[in-house]
Amino acid sequence: MSDKFLYSLARPLLFSLDPGTAHNLTLPMLRAGARLGIPQRLTHPVQDARNVMGLEFPNAVGLAAGLDKDGAYIDGLSALGFGFIEIGTVTARAQPGNPKPRMFRLPAAHALINRMGFNNGGVDAFVRNVQSSRFYREKRGVLGLNIGKNADTPIEHATEDYLICLDKVYPYASYVTVNISSPNTKNLRQLQQASELDDLLSRLKEAQSRLADKHARYVPIVLKIAPDLDQEQVNTIADALLRHRMDGVIATNTTITRDAVQGLAHADEMGGLSGAPVATLSNRVIRSLHQLLGKDIPIIGVGGILSAEDAQAKLDAGASLVQLYTGLIYRGPALIRECAEALSTRQDQ
Ligand SMILES: Cc1cc2nc3c(=O)[nH]c(=O)nc-3n(C[C@H](O)[C@H](O)[C@H](O)COP(=O)(O)O)c2cc1C
Repeated sequence: MSDKFLYSLARPLLFSLDPGTAHNLTLPMLRAGARLGIPQRLTHPVQDARNVMGLEFPNAVGLAAGLDKDGAYIDGLSALGFGFIEIGTVTARAQPGNPKPRMFRLPAAHALINRMGFNNGGVDAFVRNVQSSRFYREKRGVLGLNIGKNADTPIEHATEDYLICLDKVYPYASYVTVNISSPNTKNLRQLQQASELDDLLSRLKEAQSRLADKHARYVPIVLKIAPDLDQEQVNTIADALLRHRMDGVIATNTTITRDAVQGLAHADEMGGLSGAPVATLSNRVIRSLHQLLGKDIPIIGVGGILSAEDAQAKLDAGASLVQLYTGLIYRGPALIRECAEALSTRQDQ
């Protein structure tokens, strides 16, 4: 029995539930399955090793942040065949996120809108979850830890939140993602502006150097940015990434635009739109970044991957690795292998 077939049976049931309930049902099932070794038997990860940021990735297809905010399902998710897993966004203190409903499906557009608002149990619980996962303990693969700021921290004090989280997650991360691009935390995207970004990146780099000495290990730090940036804003960010010698960039988060989904049910819900409609926007940012950064700073491409061709388009635009989230909801875990196999046949590695 293939995972594609199993997902074709499960999807109608999952789609008959509201998205939050489907999420709360699937992840514990995956965890239970992982304990019994079931997904491993179904999905053998595609072997297509790549060295990016000094890390060895078994293949180029990763899980994007936001599916496992607390790192409670690392072992189940890692058994699906991903080349790397990113968990979070986590904040310094626990917070409930926005009131429900806060996630909506737009099936005709292969899209979701979410305004989760960084619901999570705080960085201390997050670190305990990482520590207790077999994936971390047995050093089974690449684990990205994504950090953010609490909703009630004034934006002028955002850097302090990032530094608290960085300090705590550093020893357990393969790489750390600094998320300054969620549309669901008030003013967060302001941190993408020149002076705020300069201040944030210089203090993160100082901390990274101190932590590298303390733990005798250099952990790459990557910045996650929005798709809703004009060329001047992309130039500003690329310039800051180069000046501060950042290790990588993740492009992109969800979009606040709605052009591609106008007229569809839920299109007017507040939040970030993900899935197919974000692909063009994300690819445009990746292409621009690649022109500006060259080979100096690797790009992880994310946004609207629903097929192998979509993953190829990210590498064509200049990404070294890809991530996906919404595609997993619409296509199921078979999408991971489909993308990883297609990327493994490329000559440009
Ligand atoms: C429900 C949901 C929650 C998300 N939460 C986060 C998050 O906490 N941190 C983050 O960096 N990105 C988050 N994202 C954004 C994804 O990581 C990804 O950048 C975006 O959805 C585009 O990729 P996709 O089209 O493959 O979903 C979230 C996305 C969704 C759909």
